[in-house]
Amino acid sequence: MTRGWSRNRLKFALAGPLFEAGNRFIPGHPHDRLAQLVADQHPQRVLELCGGTGYAARLLADKSPTTQVDSLDISPEMLATGRTRLRRAGIGNMALHEGDVAALPFDDDTFDIVMSVFGWHELPTDTRHRAIDETLRVLRPGGQVIAIDLDPPPAARTVFDLYLRLTERPHARDVLGTGLADAFTAHGLTVTSHQPARSWARPFQIVHAHERGI
Ligand SMILES: C[S@@+](CC[C@H](N)C(=O)[O-])C[C@H]1O[C@@H](n2cnc3c(N)ncnc32)[C@H](O)[C@@H]1O
Repeated sequence: MTRGWSRNRLKFALAGPLFEAGNRFIPGHPHDRLAQLVADQHPQRVLELCGGTGYAARLLADKSPTTQVDSLDISPEMLATGRTRLRRAGIGNMALHEGDVAALPFDDDTFDIVMSVFGWHELPTDTRHRAIDETLRVLRPGGQVIAIDLDPPPAARTVFDLYLRLTERPHARDVLGTGLADAFTAHGLTVTSHQPARSWARPFQIVHAHERGI
């Protein structure tokens, strides 16, 4: 089990309904954007890491009925909210899994795409590195990683810094700027596109990387 998780568990224990209600109001609509980016690749199988309630995975599963979507999270509380929403939505091509990104409960070479939204910054540095290795293990040759995560909007660095201090652990800063893209590269992925945060209208980065089997 990931070090420090029990402290973090509290942070997400009651967050499921809040995320479900609030995700659609995040400027730039990161969850819709991720679901669309992934759907455009027409994958057969997709894994979402740190999926929380599976909000983005549900959008994708709804958009792409021929794609099998698996969403994994470590928080039983987030997953409980997600299971209720999934049942109500009547989506059949998606499953929620409880698990740790540092030890993925999936076979080698299973997925075409591993996606995440606001997941990588949550992970302690050593866990993040193990999770990238696990991502490479479960990706099919030539598979893709598409990640949306925190990044300081150029005109609002001070406010963003305050937000980080108040709400995130210090390791969240590892992913800012080229931090996440550099970590992917260091583990052998090829980063094909990196769009930094642009403004408050899109206050997040988008990283698209490929496994080098292509
Ligand atoms: C900021 S939330 C984002 C949730 C979701 N992606 C969304 O945008 O609604 C980060 C999520 O990472 C999960 N998480 C943290 N550490 C994890 C780990 N080691 N393995 C799997 N999930 C983890 C938390 O439980 C939480 O649901």
